[in-house]
Amino acid sequence: MNKKIVILPGDGIGLEITQWGKKVLQAIAEKFNHSFEFEQALIGHSAIEATGNPLPDETLVACKNADAVMLGAVGHPMYDNDPSLKVRPEQGLLKIRKELGLYANIRPVKIFDELIGASSLKPEILRGADILFFRELTGGIYFGTPSERRDDGHTAVSTMVYSKSEVERIARMAFEAARKRKKILHSIDKANVLEVSRLWREVVQQLSKEYSDVTVVHQFIDNAAMQMIRDPKQFDVVVTGNMFGDILTDEASQISGSLGLLPSASIGDKVGIFEPVHGSAPDIAGKGVANPLATILSAALLLDIGFEMKKESQAVINAVDMVLKNGYRTGEIANAETPKEMILGTDGIGAQVLKELLKILKLKKNS
Ligand code: NAD
Ligand code: IPM
Ligand code: MN
Repeated sequence: MNKKIVILPGDGIGLEITQWGKKVLQAIAEKFNHSFEFEQALIGHSAIEATGNPLPDETLVACKNADAVMLGAVGHPMYDNDPSLKVRPEQGLLKIRKELGLYANIRPVKIFDELIGASSLKPEILRGADILFFRELTGGIYFGTPSERRDDGHTAVSTMVYSKSEVERIARMAFEAARKRKKILHSIDKANVLEVSRLWREVVQQLSKEYSDVTVVHQFIDNAAMQMIRDPKQFDVVVTGNMFGDILTDEASQISGSLGLLPSASIGDKVGIFEPVHGSAPDIAGKGVANPLATILSAALLLDIGFEMKKESQAVINAVDMVLKNGYRTGEIANAETPKEMILGTDGIGAQVLKELLKILKLKKNS
């Protein structure tokens, strides 16, 4: 198959990690006789530096014309430390999600058996945990208007808005997934306080009549945040709004052991963006220690969800699994028992994945 893929490295560790996503996709293309054409474009702080705009028109056009997009991360301490700046890297990411109609952000959280010791949670709590999050991505408090300063800057307002149709489309996707898995769906909201959450709950209740085979559990976000680390195995498919989903999935990353392991797929109208859950990690940017596995696993989601290439996607997941089984770790998932020589940087781990992938694909390294 011929496919066009746009790579948006973004900022911070973005360039270091997307390189490995691309190399993995190139290896897949070669073995399976696909033709993947890559184009790189600017987003975030790097785009502001070059053009003054966190999402230049050329980037948007390239993404709209692509078959899939792979994103690193956006964000820079310059803006994090200066809330008064009006043009900000994250605006680029929000705009491209909206422009591409990516209302569903799918975030799978699994524990690799080999990494059970990498988490700060107890092994018996973690073993077998496997959660599929559906985070609404183009609505809620991220996009509601008004969103502004008032009274000469002394007051500010952000607005959480959801329409029934916005809730229904993401909930339907989650119900469909739940139906194919354990038939249990947790819907997380704050319906005891927020009107917008009461609408959310009403829509999910209504929709559940069409999915009588699926058990729905409504949970409040504060309780869910606690339950997530108390007993993660109670969850299978989770559906929630934009901001609750953002927070809950960073928390859930500790079930897998590291934010550096969590991939995601942002899908909706047509072209999807495949992006790690983590950010630009300025504290480790440029040091060559960022974990590239979240991006490599996002490449696997790109193949699976974006291109319906199941075998190709599974080969990438198996290669990652093999590297972990072989005992290799990036620094943040290593523990006291990890031998020093098994702790690798971004390129070291990336190269191991590629090596395992080539073995799986029975290709010689430089062929
Ligand atoms: P972050 O996700 O960048 O980092 C949080 C912590 O996790 C840091 O200690 C970091 O070193 C670690 N970490 C993250 N990714 C890692 C990886 N691949 N390997 C090893 N360790 C990793 O979150 P933050 O520090 O709150 O935000 C930093 C910047 O990133 C901000 O400007 C924020 O807006 C932006 N951000 C962007 C995205 C995105 O582009 N999707 C997501 C989250 C945050
Ligand atoms: C994420 C990030 C983004 C979000 C920011 C950078 C806009 O945290 O992708 O999880 O909140 O959606
Ligand atoms: Mn986030």
